[in-house]
Amino acid sequence: MRIAVYPGSFDPVTNGHLDIIERASRVFDRVIVGVLNNSGKNPLFSIDERVEMLKQVTEHIGNVEIDSFDGLLVDFAKMKNASVIVKGLRTVMDFEYEFQMALLNKALNPEYETMFMMTDSKYSYISSSMVKELAGFHGDLTGLVPAEIVHKIKQKYKIG
Ligand code: PNS
Repeated sequence: MRIAVYPGSFDPVTNGHLDIIERASRVFDRVIVGVLNNSGKNPLFSIDERVEMLKQVTEHIGNVEIDSFDGLLVDFAKMKNASVIVKGLRTVMDFEYEFQMALLNKALNPEYETMFMMTDSKYSYISSSMVKELAGFHGDLTGLVPAEIVHKIKQKYKIG
C-alpha cells in the first residue's frame, strides 16, 4: 500500500491544492493531507477551520484523509506509515524553496521520497496569500478556491 503525505498550511485551501490532492489520489493508494498547526505564522483560519474546509472539499475523494500536525513533517509521515511526500510546484521560485526542503527532509530521514507534481497551468498563479490579499480588497474569488468555502473567506473579511 503506497501512502503519500501532502503537507501545507492550507490557509485557506485553493483550487490549486485541490487539483494536486485529486491527482495524487489517482497515483497513490491513500493520500493524507497534513495541515501544519503553525501558530507562529498567525494564520487567518484556525487549525480546526482549515481541517474542516479540507474535509468538506475532498468529500468526493474516497482515499483521502485530512489530519493536522505539529513539528517535523518526516515524523508525521512516519506516524502515518507514508513513504512519499507530495508537493506541488508552480514556479521557479517554488522550486528553489522546495528543493532545499526536499534535501533537508531526505537528510532528516532518507526513507522518504519527495515527489513533485507540476501545477495545472490554470492554477499556476494561485496561492493562499494571493487569495487572502484579493479577499481583503473584496475581489472576486470565483475559480480560485472551491465554491463551498468562498463565503467562509468573505466572512473573515466581513463581506457578503
Ligand atoms: O503551505 P506551506 O506553508 O508552504 O507548507 C509548508 C510546510 C508545511 C510543507 C512546511 O513548512 C513543513 O513541512 N513544515 C513542518 C516542519 C518541517 O518538517 N520543516 C522542515 C525541516 S526544519
